[in-house]
Amino acid sequence: MASLSSPSPSPVRFLTGITTSGTPHLGNYVGSVRHSVRFSLQPHVQSFYFLADYHALIKVDEPARIQRSTLEIAATWLACGLDPERVTFYRQSDIPEIPELTWFLTCVTGKGVLNRAHAYKAAMDKNLAKGEDPDADINAGLFMYPVLMAADILMFNAHKVPVGRDQVQHIEMARDMAQSFNHLYGEHFTLPEAEIDDAVATLPGLDGRKMSKSYDNTIPLFTPRAQLQKLIAGIVTDSRAPGEPKDPEGSALFQIYQAFADHGETEALRKAYADGIGWGDAKQILFERIDREVAPMREHYDALLNDPAQIEKILRTGADKARALSRPFIEGLRHAVGLRNLSARDEAAARKTTKVARPSFKQYRESDGLFYFKLLDAGGAQMLQSVGFASPQEAGRAIAALRKQGAAALTLLAGQLEPLDNEGARAVTAALEALAADAAGEKS
Ligand code: TRP
Repeated sequence: MASLSSPSPSPVRFLTGITTSGTPHLGNYVGSVRHSVRFSLQPHVQSFYFLADYHALIKVDEPARIQRSTLEIAATWLACGLDPERVTFYRQSDIPEIPELTWFLTCVTGKGVLNRAHAYKAAMDKNLAKGEDPDADINAGLFMYPVLMAADILMFNAHKVPVGRDQVQHIEMARDMAQSFNHLYGEHFTLPEAEIDDAVATLPGLDGRKMSKSYDNTIPLFTPRAQLQKLIAGIVTDSRAPGEPKDPEGSALFQIYQAFADHGETEALRKAYADGIGWGDAKQILFERIDREVAPMREHYDALLNDPAQIEKILRTGADKARALSRPFIEGLRHAVGLRNLSARDEAAARKTTKVARPSFKQYRESDGLFYFKLLDAGGAQMLQSVGFASPQEAGRAIAALRKQGAAALTLLAGQLEPLDNEGARAVTAALEALAADAAGEKS
């Protein structure tokens, strides 16, 4: 195998989730949603967006709030331009393979590693400061948070996970879990990387601290126009009177404006500050700038909220798309760790002696000059179809990966294969396993 030099043509997989525990606010929009939607529109990226509702259970025990938040966050993403045809958009709890993978990862993760996770440590430190038992009121879900998050990421073999700095540790833990698993059971997981965008600063809230639900200082993204104006009027300022020059540094109002305005607009407001603009006028400018961006999306959002059945349908379609990957992938993992059909071995041995017809790969060249392959079942019916490759070597490499890695390669090569439905994916997985069992049999 000397020809592994050319870079893989498969697209970069990008994955992100939002915990469904609240109502999206301007800080979520500026810090995450806006950037992710833009990113999903780039060529050569394959994106996964999901509603992290299992994560929400860690801190919310009001069922109605979970349901409402899931609806609001889904509607927000769609209203902001996420295209469910283009990306894989799903709800975490629709993918039962995720909790299963969580368990596999739990069993390759040191408890001591989880003791050091920031979220858990912060909760413990708070208890210690109050003189209480370190684990008082901490549920085991919080302790396991990083493992569930790693399962989210590793399930779809994401390359890049856009996160804030506070989440980098979680991505590193996911990498470590992937490495431990790969070390024990073979190369199943891609090692994910955090993608930190320093250009998306955190937004200050009404009181000047970071905009966050836990400080109760947020401005809901799609609050009605009149309410938006009222909330903006409540942003803290200093007591300088109209006519006095004002300092943009440390002005929450200025920072929020900057997150929405272009360079020219920002400089114009900077000058207005120096010229002594009154706070009332500055707030009006901020209100109008935000409303200009948000108003068209707000309309779409309101329409979506009024049609939850449509969102439900979109999410279920997304779950089908996601499970076409997660189902065969977990099959391969179950096999790898030893959760196997007890008769699998015997079947393989029996097949060998009776020389049953096997599925086979067929490589060919099309009139477009590109090189393709198919997987045919024993009867010659097509099970899997590749996209076109520039060279026969590239097609050959993809076939080799499928032969060697089985179902795991189906996920890794998703961009190079025509999509499969669930049933198709299951059949291909079984065929690849049979081929792999034959190969193993021939070696022994
Ligand atoms: N932890 C993220 C949040 O607080 C949500 C999340 C769950 C996530 N799983 C993820 C983000 C995987 C990125 C990748 O909202």
